[in-house]
Amino acid sequence: MKDTYILGIETSCDETAVAIVKNGKEIISNVVASQIESHKRFGGVVPEIASRHHVEQITIVLEEAFEESGLSWDDIDAVSVTEGPGLVGALLIGVNAAKALAFAKQKPLIGVHHIAGHIYANRLEEEFQFPLLALIVSGGHTELVLMKEHGNYEVIGETRDDAAGEAYDKVARMLNLPYPGGPHIDRLAAEGEVTIDFPRAWLEEDSYDFSFSGLKSAVINRIHNANQKGETLKQEDIAASFQASVVEVLATKTLKAAKQYQVKQVIVAGGVAANKGLRAELEAKFSETDIPLLIPPLKLCTDNAAMIAAAGTINYEQGRRSAMDLNANPSLTLR
Ligand code: KG4
Ligand code: ZN
Repeated sequence: MKDTYILGIETSCDETAVAIVKNGKEIISNVVASQIESHKRFGGVVPEIASRHHVEQITIVLEEAFEESGLSWDDIDAVSVTEGPGLVGALLIGVNAAKALAFAKQKPLIGVHHIAGHIYANRLEEEFQFPLLALIVSGGHTELVLMKEHGNYEVIGETRDDAAGEAYDKVARMLNLPYPGGPHIDRLAAEGEVTIDFPRAWLEEDSYDFSFSGLKSAVINRIHNANQKGETLKQEDIAASFQASVVEVLATKTLKAAKQYQVKQVIVAGGVAANKGLRAELEAKFSETDIPLLIPPLKLCTDNAAMIAAAGTINYEQGRRSAMDLNANPSLTLR
């Protein structure tokens, strides 16, 4: 069978990324231009600034991706792009670039859901075994997704308020740590001890949904209380106690769902998948089962375009194409 080469474009948040992936599994090139430095001083991603950077970077990153690959447009079978969810102005840059390229080069256009991309980042490491369960934990998402076959997504649980990464970033801000705060909390947590018993939002008995806003408020209240009383809390202990709460809920619900749905594989995706505490807890829990656990390397946990090309390959193989009126959809649902 002929090899398939799919171009991927990702601009949903603060990374301008272009990649080329072979047969949905092999990275040929993967270029990511991060804007973190520009957003840091604002303590978060500023949408206007993100869009402006994407415009400036997209053609440079595209050229680099081709250069790195040694391929030409003749080799490319289709152009895939994140159509949502994300920041609308940021998504629009990628979507319009993809449309222009697909039109000019006469290639099929394929819109991809950002979360499908995060899931398919794992296939660049190892082939999927169905049914599989994916835990997606990022700055914008906390979801448990059941997949019975390629391209088929059933969301069985999701956050009812803040995403896990969002909670990390907000707590980090309270501790005066730089943006994005997740990695800093992770580092501090490793040096601290669980001295504060923060709440765990288990929700209803049979629910796989999550909630992190109560935990976030509990941390903020505890810090305020201590400040008022002139009591000093160790930053490391706050981080460790907060992380223990997040990790316990995520890992417990993932294990329970994996058993209930009798999955053959559990995969983890999104920026928070980089968290050492979460990795350790999941590894410990799943080592007691015979369900294989797959966590991608750090580089594939955070936003990139190889994951979009990998997910786009499935759409391509299944004959799912987007029309030329494809639009950015900031609240696109996964299905
Ligand atoms: O997937 P991602 O790069 O972007 C989104 O699509 O949201 O995820 C970014 C999020 C941020 O909230 C960041 O603080 C968090 O992932 N993050 C971490 C760690 N590394 C990144 N959270 C906890 N521990 C980490 N080591
Ligand atoms: Zn993401």
